[in-house]
Amino acid sequence: MSRVAVFPGSFDPMTNAHLDVARRAATLFDRLVVGVLNNPRKSPLFTVDERIAQIQEAVADFGVNVEVAGFDGLTVEFARRHEAGFIVRGLRAVSDFEAELQMAHTNRKLQPGVDTVFLMSALDYGYLSSSLAKEVAQFGGEIAGMVPDPVAVALRTRFSTPG
Ligand code: PNS
Repeated sequence: MSRVAVFPGSFDPMTNAHLDVARRAATLFDRLVVGVLNNPRKSPLFTVDERIAQIQEAVADFGVNVEVAGFDGLTVEFARRHEAGFIVRGLRAVSDFEAELQMAHTNRKLQPGVDTVFLMSALDYGYLSSSLAKEVAQFGGEIAGMVPDPVAVALRTRFSTPG
């Protein structure tokens, strides 16, 4: 039986920490579906379609077992639609743990057949977050090394001042 995992997140935008987790997860599972949440309560910088396109470009060399899709609603429902038995999440530091534990327990309660698998973020990216990358880009700082190239291009374009 093939092992399928979803890797859900806001990815507004994807960072190199996310990309590293996706790359490693792709080697652990037969199929990995990166899920971009359409969260109506947040005002994202990038639309779901923009985020999907950025991530597709970033994972293009990972192999054919990686897909990218948008989703609304519950992560466990997204997992069910893709026949996934696992949810992948990255942990950067102890500070991530409490919220991730709560989410993992909630998801297990909702769908006992789906387990959450945590990968420790690469040490180099432990400080990174989507919000910080956006803030650095907004004020003209260098974001190379923080986000995948397609995301860096999109951030520079979004925050470039005309003229
Ligand atoms: O990148 P993020 O914002 O840390 O990702 C959070 C995400 C998308 C994994 C989480 O908010 C989520 O699963 N949302 C979907 C709604 C849901 O399933 N809620 C119940 C479980 S927490």
